Amino acid sequence: MKALVLSGGAGTRLRPITHTSAKQLVPVANKPILFYGLEAIADAGITDVAIVVGDTENEIRQAVGDGSDFGLTVTYLRQEAPRGLSHAVLIARDFLGDDDFVMFLGDNFVFGGITDTVEEFRKEGPDAQLLLTRVPNPSAFGVAELDDAGRLLRLEEKPEHPRSDLALVGVYLFGPSIHEAVRAIGPSARGELEITDAIQWLLERDRDVRTTVITGYWKDTGNAADILDVNRRLLDLLEYRVEGDVDENSEIVGRVQIDAGAVIRGSRIVGPAIIGPGTVVENSYIGPSTAIAEDCVIRNSEIEFSIILRESGFDSIRRVEGSLVGRNVHVSLAHRVPATHRLVIGDHGRVQISS
Ligand code: TTP
Repeated sequence: MKALVLSGGAGTRLRPITHTSAKQLVPVANKPILFYGLEAIADAGITDVAIVVGDTENEIRQAVGDGSDFGLTVTYLRQEAPRGLSHAVLIARDFLGDDDFVMFLGDNFVFGGITDTVEEFRKEGPDAQLLLTRVPNPSAFGVAELDDAGRLLRLEEKPEHPRSDLALVGVYLFGPSIHEAVRAIGPSARGELEITDAIQWLLERDRDVRTTVITGYWKDTGNAADILDVNRRLLDLLEYRVEGDVDENSEIVGRVQIDAGAVIRGSRIVGPAIIGPGTVVENSYIGPSTAIAEDCVIRNSEIEFSIILRESGFDSIRRVEGSLVGRNVHVSLAHRVPATHRLVIGDHGRVQISS
């Protein structure tokens, strides 16, 4: 069994972060979201992995390398444009051969991994196996309609009037018949080769397509709110570990991880929170559900329920909450009167100011 991990795409919903970097590499609990998927694949006993990449190919290659850190052998497949999930399967034909494979969306997060699902697929050997989960807003997803016996009747991509609240989770298991299906379908109204259309093609030919409804936590991290939510859940699992330099005027409360090389002076850190190596926190408050990456400087500020990427700085800012801040971003107080806001923000930036 092989794995096909999708890490191309446009990432429009995560601009401006995705103007300069891959959305699959946004860190949650200070580790790129993609790494959790690769670990889940390795845990399921799969070693042969292809990663589909687009414009951010170099960055993904740099982060994952040959895959040996994960116990994987990784091949990269360049997709010239994000033409859809079925298109990704099309370009992976030579790599996949006639092997069974799991297709994993690189920006998806599945708590509890995929080992049981992969085992079940290996035993039963259907044409396709899909994971479903109940969501409050099915129109944003691929939606499955099941009959009373739980058999799959139909799939629709982002339907205006969804027939159920069962969304497709971004993990799919396929046998080789999917190749015939992705070759047979045409582009959808939005111009993509949809995986839902390929699976629907299998269904209409009475192929064996099975579904499992999962109850565990799953998230498609399309936007900032989703990423903050995954970050919060992961930080809830954190264990207390302080390896950085914390002075006696600081207070560390609860499950806090302070990496070696971090410096905490005169500050209060209330977990669950993680502070990366090389980061300096001075006269500040870092509150629950916050992940601060490496080499940041936080002075005289208060930050809670947020993700701050590496090499960013906050000086005299009270108070930041529910925020996703990119790399090398600097936020400070304008000291002169009149009290105005001065902004240098990239395209598609979003700022909410409390005054
Ligand atoms: P999506 O989140 O559906 O698409 P996107 O990345 O283009 O994002 P947005 O809607 O915000 O513009 O993609 C799911 C995953 O699959 C994501 O990791 C990107 C990847 N992908 C590809 O690798 N190739 C593709 O053709 C598409 C559509 C997505």
